[in-house]
Amino acid sequence: MSVKRIGVLVSGGGTNLQAIIDATLKGDINGEVVIVISNRKDAYGLERARIKGIRSEFVDYSDVDAYNKRVLELLIEEKVDLVVLAGYLKVVGKDIIGTYEDRIINIHPSLIPSFCGKGYYGERVHKAVLDKGVKVTGVTVHFVDEGTDTGKIILQEAVEVLDDDTIESLQKRVLEIEHKLLVKALRMLCK
Ligand code: GRF
Repeated sequence: MSVKRIGVLVSGGGTNLQAIIDATLKGDINGEVVIVISNRKDAYGLERARIKGIRSEFVDYSDVDAYNKRVLELLIEEKVDLVVLAGYLKVVGKDIIGTYEDRIINIHPSLIPSFCGKGYYGERVHKAVLDKGVKVTGVTVHFVDEGTDTGKIILQEAVEVLDDDTIESLQKRVLEIEHKLLVKALRMLCK
């Protein structure tokens, strides 16, 4: 079975990207990360790629149409089979969605449809969870369509909210499940 070529889009620290890279290098996923793209020049995710000799590209987001055109060019150039949004904070351009229909996945740090959509990302998700006082939150991996966090759900896992949880303690516990669930989803999709 041919090894799937994975393209990863990041906007920040890239711990989800690192989990994917580590799993592919261990052979846990029948895939190879062939390019990492970010809208932020200083995204540590780009450095994580460089450390492993994986192509890393910063693309300037100041002109959104030019940005999305360039991202699509890079994905096609690297013959990417599967696109992963890993801590990526921009809306994916329509042409990319069209070209990679049902081949783009995203990881979101809540149980969609709760605490998702515009404005719900990163710590804001966990703040909303704590403010609402829910006892269970979790992680969702889903396909990306033209909406925000609206695509078909692939996997979910619950994470208990503890009475003394802070945004940081909750994010740390959720992030560990993100890493595990993203690798599990990729293992399934790259089989
Ligand atoms: C985290 O808040 C995570 O929940 C979400 O994106 C943020 C950064 O993730 N998926 P990463 O460390 O950049 O992968």
